[in-house]
Amino acid sequence: MSNVTLHTLSARKQAGEKFAVLTAYDSTFAHLVSSAGIEMILVGDSLGMVIQGQSSTVPVSVAEMVYHTQCVARGNQGAMIMADLPFMAYATPEQAMQNSALLMQAGAHIVKLEGGSWLCESVSLLSERGIPVCAHLGLTPQAVNKLGGYKVQGRDRESALTMIEDARRLEEAGASMLLLECVPTTLAQEITLNAGIPVIGIGAGQHTDAQVLVLHDMLGITPGRRPKFVKNFMAESGSIEAALKLYAEQVREGLYPSAEYGFE
Ligand code: KIV
Repeated sequence: MSNVTLHTLSARKQAGEKFAVLTAYDSTFAHLVSSAGIEMILVGDSLGMVIQGQSSTVPVSVAEMVYHTQCVARGNQGAMIMADLPFMAYATPEQAMQNSALLMQAGAHIVKLEGGSWLCESVSLLSERGIPVCAHLGLTPQAVNKLGGYKVQGRDRESALTMIEDARRLEEAGASMLLLECVPTTLAQEITLNAGIPVIGIGAGQHTDAQVLVLHDMLGITPGRRPKFVKNFMAESGSIEAALKLYAEQVREGLYPSAEYGFE
């Protein structure tokens, strides 16, 4: 696969072609995921739960994100790498800029931060200085203590309208991508239709431009209950490589997620 860039993924959106994203946290899995043709790797702060066994993403540090981004960059075979700015690493625009610089120097091609229009100033600052940004809306796990749990967001009219407005303002501020987590299918569809930038969904139904899953969830190896939006791709594949390829194919063909994986 030739190197995937922001331009590649924006062109996919314009052409109505979906793309696949998966998390990875180390070099071996980065190699497997990118070799399977998955366009983007997310070095998610979900590593706090998946790798470190924490009960939320809140304890994850910038140094840990830098370390895992470096590991992923070494194994990557041409996918675009997105790295999460962890909890409180972007409480001010200056912090956002300093910590994003560390992630970009570790090998990220784009950074992701969680929150609504209060982030517009940081998004403008990063974007103007050459750092692409993905804005994460809906269920924002770093705010789990404020949200009162991992719940679907945007179910009532007021919060849905706020999310639509946040998406518009963040794009206007310079965001290059949006990510919607645990959002009703119809709301994610409306945001995707209105956006000029690619919209990645997780638990956001079948109408977004791309899908992301946590690697360990889609391989069926995460302990505990599987969230409604996750499909176990290992269950119908004989190997990890086959499961990754099946995921990429089903996302591109619009077969995953089907309606039953979404929220109404
Ligand atoms: O950290 C992460 O893996 C994420 C996904 C759940 C989207 O942000």
